[in-house]
Amino acid sequence: MQIIPSGRPLGAEIAGIDMRRPLDAGEVAELKQAWNDHLVLVLRGQFDVSLDNHMTFSRHFGKLALSPPSPVTGKRGQYENVPPEIAVVSNIEKDGRPIGALGTADVKWHTDSSFFDIPPAGGLLRAIEVPEDGSGATSFLNLYRAYEALDDDLKARITGKLCNHSANYDSSGRPYPYAETGDPTKSPGARHPLVRTHPETGRKCLFLGRRLDAWIVGLPVEESEEVLNAVWDHATRDEFSWTHKWLNGDMVMWDNRCVMHRRDAFDPSLRRHMQRTQIVGTRPV
Ligand code: OGA
Ligand code: MN
Repeated sequence: MQIIPSGRPLGAEIAGIDMRRPLDAGEVAELKQAWNDHLVLVLRGQFDVSLDNHMTFSRHFGKLALSPPSPVTGKRGQYENVPPEIAVVSNIEKDGRPIGALGTADVKWHTDSSFFDIPPAGGLLRAIEVPEDGSGATSFLNLYRAYEALDDDLKARITGKLCNHSANYDSSGRPYPYAETGDPTKSPGARHPLVRTHPETGRKCLFLGRRLDAWIVGLPVEESEEVLNAVWDHATRDEFSWTHKWLNGDMVMWDNRCVMHRRDAFDPSLRRHMQRTQIVGTRPV
């Protein structure tokens, strides 16, 4: 196995792994170490991978989470006939309906499913078919670095504070079919510390979720907005990010505890089809 760092604040390519083959204990340990070191790993050229292969590979890193229900149908596994551990991300339509989630618009910076008490620890997304022109790229942020680079004043304003991670919007900014309160202090969701300690590395990082409808618990909304705007402006700076341009057969795995991701829009006439598993996490502390 070779580890080729991206040269950016996070991300590394792993060569020499075929995710259809069982991994030995040494390989699993090496991959886990690389994942903790680089936060996002890319395995290129993973073709002819069955859903079983994808799930078996993912289970090396923990228990599989069930994919969140579709905001449209309320059903898991989106529209395709896939096991509940698989989420489909796609704009391709079958019988007039998309076979997966997230459409073609840009997807804002987010942590997956942080509006649950126990958000997933990681996501493993494989590209089956992606636009050849490199559109629909996915970017990632290193939230350890972002935390470490905060100025003391802002650090003090968020230390010990909880943030409400609103369940009112999905990662594309589309409202879920929950009652919209119009008041972030009353939004359904989960409350997590703004600064969390990664359970494996022991390092502190920012944990922001998504910007829409977020609220720092206990603060007047105006002050919460001011602090959140400052933290988000800081955390989403280029210097903490790395962008992955997809090729067919890419398997990209991100640590959902210390990384946020976003996706560029792409032309609706192009086809993009991906499948994702998630690893069960722990309650953020
Ligand atoms: C996801 C996600 C972005 C993309 O699968 O959680 O945000 O690039 N995907 O498809
Ligand atoms: Mn996501």
